Amino acid sequence: MVLILHNEIPALPLNNNNRIPQLGLGVFQVDNAKDTKDAVKWALAAGYRHIDTAAYYGNEQWVGEAIRESDVKREDIFVTSKLWNNERGYDETKAAFQRTLDKLGFDYLDMFLIHWPAPGFTESWRAMEDLYKAGKIKNIGVSNFNRSHIEKLMETATVKPVVDQIETHPYFQQNDLHAYLETQGILHEAWSPLGGGRNNALTDPVINELAAAHDVSAAQIILRWHVQREEIVIPKSTHEERIQQNRDIFAFGLDEDEMRAISALDAGKRVGPDPADDAWLKQSQTYDGRK
Ligand code: A2P
Repeated sequence: MVLILHNEIPALPLNNNNRIPQLGLGVFQVDNAKDTKDAVKWALAAGYRHIDTAAYYGNEQWVGEAIRESDVKREDIFVTSKLWNNERGYDETKAAFQRTLDKLGFDYLDMFLIHWPAPGFTESWRAMEDLYKAGKIKNIGVSNFNRSHIEKLMETATVKPVVDQIETHPYFQQNDLHAYLETQGILHEAWSPLGGGRNNALTDPVINELAAAHDVSAAQIILRWHVQREEIVIPKSTHEERIQQNRDIFAFGLDEDEMRAISALDAGKRVGPDPADDAWLKQSQTYDGRK
């Protein structure tokens, strides 16, 4: 039997029976209108139907504008945003969500995540559950939650998060949390899937050997490794050719040995903050989440 791989972006089922495109464009640190709008438009033209932003990124408004100026229908695009760490409490969370909607210029959001497990998240979740039940948010989830944070959330939650968006790349693979999320039916979504430009994953010799063997780029090898681990990936780029390249990861496959070679690169090294660092979480609540 010949296995024919096609280049379509899979839509993964969530635990509420909705679906999410496995690949999206991330726009973290894209801090001006031109770069944000160009990136979103290039991504949509390349076939992406999933954009990941956050109130904290300060670019929701330009994401919304780019979508409106494109020829892709709003309802065909899965847009995620996130609640910043100082927006805690039931009413505050609802108000922050409305600000996100207003900035995007939308009347509903596809997914809203609690950005970090900063104190007060259970009350924020209660507000998000009500917005979900009212149909204003199609899916609710969390980001940067460790197992202990999810367990705490589930003590009072009536709706389970659909995803946990966590730092994941070849040097920080999150295998324990991945296994736990699997038992809970919560999809693992990888942020900084390429290492965020803050480590050497893209120049790693093992990755580059595989890239040469498959005649693809190092970024494509890393993204392919993620999707074969059943993760959602949201690589960020502000370059058109990279955005196109990062989309083309569904027409080739890595075999078990190749997957194992990348798994062996795990070094337990983060590029971002540690969600177990309570002092950082508290500190982050003083950062401006309403840019
Ligand atoms: P740029 O935006 O200048 O293209 P992550 O998604 O892991 O956070 O990684 C984003 C970083 O990786 C950014 O520095 C981005 O740079 C870079 N990048 C994204 N796609 C590619 C690619 N295909 N090849 C090389 N670098 C890439």
